[in-house]
Amino acid sequence: MKIIHFSDPHGGGPAEDWMAYFDKRWVGVFNYRFRRRFRHDLSKLQTAVEYILDVKPDAAVCTGDLTSAGQPGEFARVIEILKPLRNSKIPFIYTPGNHDCYVTRPQCVKAVKDAVEYLSHGVYTFEGMPLKLEVGEVDFLVVNTSAPSNLLCSWGFLTAENRDFIVKNCAEDNHERPRILVTHYPMIEEHPVLRVRHRLFGQKEVLKLMKNKQLDLVLCGHVHKPSLRVDEQGRGECISGSVTRNGTMMEIEYEKAARKFSFRTIGV
Ligand SMILES: [Fe+2]
Ligand SMILES: [Fe+2]
Repeated sequence: MKIIHFSDPHGGGPAEDWMAYFDKRWVGVFNYRFRRRFRHDLSKLQTAVEYILDVKPDAAVCTGDLTSAGQPGEFARVIEILKPLRNSKIPFIYTPGNHDCYVTRPQCVKAVKDAVEYLSHGVYTFEGMPLKLEVGEVDFLVVNTSAPSNLLCSWGFLTAENRDFIVKNCAEDNHERPRILVTHYPMIEEHPVLRVRHRLFGQKEVLKLMKNKQLDLVLCGHVHKPSLRVDEQGRGECISGSVTRNGTMMEIEYEKAARKFSFRTIGV
C-alpha cells in the first residue's frame, strides 16, 4: 500500500478585511509579505499534485498549514491548486495547521471548516474530528491539534478528547491493521525549551503508545525541515517538510506481509 504525505504549503496574501490589522492576522500577513512569499514557492505544490496524480497512491495526506493567516482568499488560492487531487479517486486526508486556525474571526473559522469538508469530499467535517478512517490496509486516526493561539506563540494542544480518542483506538495491543496518526504538530518534542513558542502540549500518553508500538506511525508537519524518526520496521514519526519551501514529500510503502513501512523522500 502506498501513501504520499506532504505538508505546509503556506499560501498567503494581503489582509482581506480591515479587522485583520487588529487581530493576529497582521502577524501572518506581515510574515507572508516580507518573508514567506520569497521562501514558499506554490508552483512546487502544483508539481506535487501532478506527481501524486501520476503515481496514484492509495491515499494522499496533507498535515496542514495550507495558508499563512487562515483567510478565505488564501484557502481559495491553495484549494484551486489541490482541486485536481481532490477531484481524483485518490482518498485525500487533510488536517488543519495552526496557520489555518489562526484567529476566531467568523469568516476565517468558516473558511477552515469549508476546506476540511470540501477536501475530504464530505467524508468528514471539522467538528467530526477526531475520527478513524479505514483506507486499504491501514487505519488513519485524523486529529486536529490546532486552535487559535496568542499573538506571539504557535502553540498546539492535544485536548483530552483527542487524547482519549487516540488511547481508545490504540488500546488493543495485538493489532492486525497499522494505526497511523495524522496531526499537524509532531508528537516527539526534542527541544521543548528551545521551541517553547512553537510546541505542542498534552501528548505524553501518545508518546507512550508510540514507544509500545500500539501506535505505529505519526504523520505530521509544522516543522518545515523534513525528518524521519523511525525504527527498523518503520515505526515512529515522519515529518514530510514543507512542500513549497523544501520541495519535499514523503512516499511511504506499507508491506503487509512484512508489517513494515519504508520511506522515500520525493523532491519536487
Ligand atoms: Fe508551517
Ligand atoms: Fe504550523
